Amino acid sequence: MTPPRRDRAAGAPLNPDLQRSLRRAVQVGVLVFLRPPVEADRGEFVALRQSSKRHLARWEPLPQPGFDPFGDDAFERELRFHRRKDSRRLLICRRADGAIVGRIGLGAIIRGDLQQCFIGYWIGKRHTGKGYMTEALCLAIQYAFETLGLHRVEVNIQPDNFASRRVAEKAGLRLEGYSLRYLRIGGRWADHERWAVTREEWPPEATA
Ligand SMILES: CC(C)(COP(=O)(O)OP(=O)(O)OC[C@H]1O[C@@H](n2cnc3c(N)ncnc32)[C@H](O)[C@@H]1OP(=O)(O)O)[C@@H](O)C(=O)NCCC(=O)NCCS
Repeated sequence: MTPPRRDRAAGAPLNPDLQRSLRRAVQVGVLVFLRPPVEADRGEFVALRQSSKRHLARWEPLPQPGFDPFGDDAFERELRFHRRKDSRRLLICRRADGAIVGRIGLGAIIRGDLQQCFIGYWIGKRHTGKGYMTEALCLAIQYAFETLGLHRVEVNIQPDNFASRRVAEKAGLRLEGYSLRYLRIGGRWADHERWAVTREEWPPEATA
């Protein structure tokens, strides 16, 4: 019989749900791991977004009429886009217990001579400020370069999203420029800063 996996940090056996969840991981860090969503995640995912409505809505595009961005529709979208030619959606799960703390997406994957994707992300309100997103972004960039074989990753951030700018900076992205009226957020065309990194610069020698 195979002995249960042990959490090296705590010396305790991993619970079976966490073991199953970790087996699906595409990237594993110290604080979090990234894995694709499965149907069984629906309740936990929706509850996390529900509890973070105000925290998230401010930074997201207005939904299409009839689409509930904080209900089942949002989870259906994750399942639909989680593994396509042009996108990946990954849940950010806490390494200690497997709890879903957020989501990171690699979208608009373009091949040919560009080999690029855009990354978008969020963390549930109660899980912010713990370094989860910085590590998740590093893991996603690693995944983009090493697993997907991409060359460039771009993140667009509103100038007043100080937490997200700090995440980009800590993860080693470079501020490239400023795009006027770049993306429609909350119903208005919002300026964004363009942060990026190419494979040649990865991994950064030291994080900020
Ligand atoms: C932005 C977001 C993903 C950050 O996630 P997180 O897990 O809290 O990020 P981390 O803990 O890894 O790092 C946050 C950093 O921002 C800093 N920060 C937070 N609020 C800040 C503020 N108002 N001003 C300046 N820095 C701030 C934190 O101090 C921390 O930096 P530090 O480690 O140097 O102290 C999260 O707040 C979120 O989901 N926001 C809503 C959705 C969103 O904005 N998505 C991104 C759209 S581009």
